[in-house]
Amino acid sequence: MCTHDDAPLSEGSIEGDEVVCPWHAATFNLKTGKCTGPPADADVTTYPVRVVGNDIEIEL
Ligand code: FES
Repeated sequence: MCTHDDAPLSEGSIEGDEVVCPWHAATFNLKTGKCTGPPADADVTTYPVRVVGNDIEIEL
């Protein structure tokens, strides 16, 4: 969820290494979760991910 107003970042667009929020266009680095563009000003949480065969594993 976007840290600005809880938009679903899964519905955002990908531009290079960033996801662009679908509501007000804040940007976040996909690998680190760092907020890279306003209007959001807080980072999002990221989790370690790996691909094992046909599965995607996320460490929570
Ligand atoms: S909800 Fe994402 S920028 Fe506003």
